Amino acid sequence: QAELPEGYKLRALRRTDFDAGFLDCLRVLTTVGDIPKDKWEERYDWISKQDGTYFIIVIEDTNTSPSRIVGTGAVLVERKFIHNLGSVGHIEDIAVAKDQQGKKLGLRIIQALDYIAKQIGCYKTILDCSEHNEGFYVKCGFRRAGLEMAHYH
Ligand code: ACO
Repeated sequence: QAELPEGYKLRALRRTDFDAGFLDCLRVLTTVGDIPKDKWEERYDWISKQDGTYFIIVIEDTNTSPSRIVGTGAVLVERKFIHNLGSVGHIEDIAVAKDQQGKKLGLRIIQALDYIAKQIGCYKTILDCSEHNEGFYVKCGFRRAGLEMAHYH
């Protein structure tokens, strides 16, 4: 397991992370939109109710004042009939702030999410990524398997 730099904390997402730059952190990944605090809280509360199914973790840099969210990732647990009622972990929305990349924060996030999925009993953890990020996930212990298809609405 990779170590975190001094003063960096890996923990579950909190309702107060709206004010700690969580959405800005996600902006390195894709379009986030202009989300008002009440809508954030509504979505946070909905996610919190998905007990044992939807986990969002963050890395907080407490060296700055105020402290700031510098990395995030999620894992969703899909409970199946196949493979003897098996479960699969789906890793989603991995983002490390631009000025914090290359410090192994991404690796640490993937390790933590994969650990959560394993503890829950998932027989595998899967994710979709661009060719550009393949090398990163290979370093995290993943390997290419299959092909993603999408139908955008
Ligand atoms: N291609 C090849 N190798 C890479 C890449 C890459 N794109 N990015 C990192 N690596 C390597 C690093 O060099 C390091 O190798 P080393 O152990 O030999 O030194 C290893 O992978 C671990 O790298 P980290 O420092 O942990 O990576 P970082 O913290 O910078 O996070 C991430 C990587 C998450 C891809 C980050 O660059 C990022 O947020 N990018 C923008 C958003 C994004 O593309 N997210 C992933 C979308 S896919 C998904 O969400 C399922």
